[in-house]
Amino acid sequence: MHARIVGTGACLPERVVTNEDLQATIDTTDEWIVARTGIRQRHIAADGQYASDLALSASRRALEAAGITPAELDLIIVATTTPDMTFPGTACILQEKLGANGCAAFDVQAVCSGFVYALTTADMFIRAGQVKTVLVVGTEVFSRLLDWTDRSTCVLFGDGAGAVVVRAADRPGILASRLHADGSLVDILSVPGSVCGGAIVGSPFVKMDGGAVFKAAVRVLAEVAEEVLEAAKLRSSDVNWLIPHQANVRILEATAKRLGLGMDRVVSTVARHGNTSAASIPLALDEAVRDGRIRSGQHVLLEGVGGGFTWGAVLLRW
Ligand code: ACO
Repeated sequence: MHARIVGTGACLPERVVTNEDLQATIDTTDEWIVARTGIRQRHIAADGQYASDLALSASRRALEAAGITPAELDLIIVATTTPDMTFPGTACILQEKLGANGCAAFDVQAVCSGFVYALTTADMFIRAGQVKTVLVVGTEVFSRLLDWTDRSTCVLFGDGAGAVVVRAADRPGILASRLHADGSLVDILSVPGSVCGGAIVGSPFVKMDGGAVFKAAVRVLAEVAEEVLEAAKLRSSDVNWLIPHQANVRILEATAKRLGLGMDRVVSTVARHGNTSAASIPLALDEAVRDGRIRSGQHVLLEGVGGGFTWGAVLLRW
């Protein structure tokens, strides 16, 4: 039994905030942001627009592309760091909005690695014979976690959602996956606050040691790529498309270089989307599938990295 992605979908909120817009409110420049990150703009959710709303639009598109109805879903997994509520999970809220009630539904919290963690979980459920059809979503309203007066973090992130339908198949599909975490690095990237007794305890905003995150991300993305390639008995030259988490174009470039791949083999949306955390990989995947870059039989390497510190990779044959 294997698992294959049979449909993709995406949703970006309407409102676009450019670097020039940010220049008007904080002490930054378009030149600084582009040179350090490659980001030119990001989409920001409207007031009252939640992670489940973005997830719903992306999921409907993925279901339509797969040609299946919500009633056919056996499992919904939502990767998010910005859930609608403390509980229940955003997967349950999405399930109700889709009208897919009855199947299993839960959230995965692995920050920017969330989609890779969720996709690997879907693969395991399918290969164990537990389920046949899974909706996997990465959705974020990360803008709600930002201190918009802190120029060192607020320029980096955006909102959005991406979704895939994964189905049991007699040929792969997902060839190999590997997940990792190192809790000793909790403090390099976190939102340390929590809700306690009706009050926010600690800071509710993103706190980041940018240099430490950069170094750790480049190292682990190279390592985990080698792991999945070895597990699938493939070489980096066999990879047609690399889709790393879209945090920063310099991280994408360094990762591609370590794998010996040119940037023409990397799907990059970071200039237009910013870092959308768990949504960034499925957003980029959907774009490259819909514009015809990713074609049947090609090898696609998805790589996530984020707070935790967490990281992982999924290698696919499309
Ligand atoms: N505009 C202008 N100047 C700025 C801005 C800004 N938006 N932000 C910081 N600066 C200033 C700093 O204050 C500092 O000034 P100083 O020298 O007077 O103190 C100067 O720019 C240099 O700051 P650094 O932090 O050293 O800049 P660096 O080159 O390291 O770039 C960055 C910062 C872009 C955050 C980089 O460290 C990075 O890309 N790190 C990876 C982090 C990342 O991608 N995080 C995303 C989330 S993590 C994830 O998804 C895995």
